[in-house]
Amino acid sequence: MPPLPCAELHLHIEGTLEPELIFALADRNGIRLPYADAADLAARYAFTDLQSFLDLYYANMDVLRTEADFTDMTRAYLRRAATAGVRHAEIMLDPQAHLARGVALETCVDGVAAALATSEADHGISSSLIAAFLRDRPATEALGVLQDLIAMQAPIVGIGLDSAEVGYPPSLFAEVYDVARAAGLKCIAHAGEEGPPGYVWEALDVLRVDRLDHGIRCLEDDALVERLVADGVPLTVCPLSNVRLRAVPSIGDHPLPAMLARGLNVSVNSDDPAYFGGYVDDNLAALVGAFDLSIDDQALLAANSVRSAFLDGNRRAVLL
Ligand code: ADE
Ligand code: ZN
Repeated sequence: MPPLPCAELHLHIEGTLEPELIFALADRNGIRLPYADAADLAARYAFTDLQSFLDLYYANMDVLRTEADFTDMTRAYLRRAATAGVRHAEIMLDPQAHLARGVALETCVDGVAAALATSEADHGISSSLIAAFLRDRPATEALGVLQDLIAMQAPIVGIGLDSAEVGYPPSLFAEVYDVARAAGLKCIAHAGEEGPPGYVWEALDVLRVDRLDHGIRCLEDDALVERLVADGVPLTVCPLSNVRLRAVPSIGDHPLPAMLARGLNVSVNSDDPAYFGGYVDDNLAALVGAFDLSIDDQALLAANSVRSAFLDGNRRAVLL
């Protein structure tokens, strides 16, 4: 059976850099990597928590130097996503991770945007860009980058919040989200991946997010689940990521079936597919294998993804 058409709503474009592409870009840019080859690099993808992944994720970004590097990375993702059934993708980019390395904002934004501009014609995937801010860097820095993005009229539909979660509650970024909302941008944030339910409450009540990334720890708080269900807040869940970062012990322990049973608006996404063992289709296959998910549940997950996308009514109707 061909994959069901879906929207991918939780995807870090830098997390799509496959080991082979990391080596190809290093070669092109004259960079010597501290690994023998792509297999040697991939062998290091045995993570113990979010931070152990982030250390390698940020280090590998060093190969992204030119606009063409960002474009080629994005095209490679879109090519693979099309085979996974993705028909719409909302793609996060971490501008601060590139600015900190001396790569200009225009280089990373324009590079990714160039691939997205032709994604529908090239791959049948409509797409949009979300600038994600690093919560383990100062909120003042995020605000400055947001103002630069607005000033340059960057083609973004929204903002997000990612990187190391525990110790960096959403409320630190209240002003950033107020400015983004006033500029007409959609607001999403990672919360409840490793962080406690209180961070999910803050993302809802302080940041006033339109959508939550992960949110799996909401199940620890019944009142929070009731709130998320009542408001129909979309949760972009990433099963293989949760297993590889040890937020859950195994795929058989994943809370997605329980989340569906509670009536939460969940979708399946890949987060950083090059690092976590698979794209959207692989994530869905892992769930189906572990839980024997019915066709109806699979169709609900796909429909939730499309309904939770920042799409205009026409494109949504085509995909539903
Ligand atoms: N950046 C890239 N992937 C991430 C994740 N799973 N959680 C937080 N920040 C991230
Ligand atoms: Zn993520």
